[in-house]
Amino acid sequence: MVNADADFSSRPSSARIYDALLGGSHNFEADREAAKRLLSMIPAAGEMARANRAFLHRAVEFMLDAGVRQFLDIGSGIPTVGNVHEIAQRRFPEARVVYIDIDPVAVAHAGEILRTNPFATVVQADMRFPEAILGHAGVRRLLDLDQPVGLLLVAMLHFVPGDDAYPAVERLLAGLPAGSYIAISHGVSETAADAALDGVADLYRRTDVSTATGRTRPEIMRFFGDAVLEPPGLVWVHEWPAGPQGDGDPGDMAVVAAVGRKP
Ligand SMILES: C[S@@+](CC[C@H](N)C(=O)[O-])C[C@H]1O[C@@H](n2cnc3c(N)ncnc32)[C@H](O)[C@@H]1O
Repeated sequence: MVNADADFSSRPSSARIYDALLGGSHNFEADREAAKRLLSMIPAAGEMARANRAFLHRAVEFMLDAGVRQFLDIGSGIPTVGNVHEIAQRRFPEARVVYIDIDPVAVAHAGEILRTNPFATVVQADMRFPEAILGHAGVRRLLDLDQPVGLLLVAMLHFVPGDDAYPAVERLLAGLPAGSYIAISHGVSETAADAALDGVADLYRRTDVSTATGRTRPEIMRFFGDAVLEPPGLVWVHEWPAGPQGDGDPGDMAVVAAVGRKP
């Protein structure tokens, strides 16, 4: 566990609640309490988190197969099993990965892990300020923005209000060349978990991100802009790209996912 001051530990963060759901050890009592409350409202939350990580893994493999060798993982969270640089560098040791997160504990821990990795780094930044991300020296040092990039926005856009999230994603995509890919997973409204949404929003209002907003499928599709969705399109997170995988039951799922290619 990285050092963190009392402010971090007394207020739950979305990154650390997620780490607790995944059974990680980089969380505090307040995060574990919040994870417990979340599970009482959405019993499948842990399963969704695991299904989401598995989607991230498949999306990165898919992009590697398509020739992508550099990744910008925004809202990357606390490093856990199957991080993007592990997946990418296992196949291509010089694959580049930049992690971005708003959470100082997630960033500190990722920094520790990446200290001796010349081709991966982490930057603390808020995705609502995409110019700062695209212009950041660490991003520029590792990523060649004239070559395709895999942009990963996995289980994070539902923590960003629409007025900020839509223009930010549009700007990020505009900054990447044709042939880049974008992967999104997102909490979807109109599901069995909907009844819990008010309680979930209230829970996250007490964290660093202050919101948790499920969106409808058309609202989620809007994030892809002109990008062309790879088959099978926007589906339950555990069904991308080849139908149901693992134990995920669609009835319990409240997360959808897709991968698009910038033309
Ligand atoms: C549920 S975790 C997802 C982690 C990882 N992407 C995954 O799918 O396994 C959401 C992450 O988004 C981060 N986050 C939330 N709002 C953010 C923002 N505005 N800018 C950057 N990161 C943000 C949180 O700190 C957290 O680490």
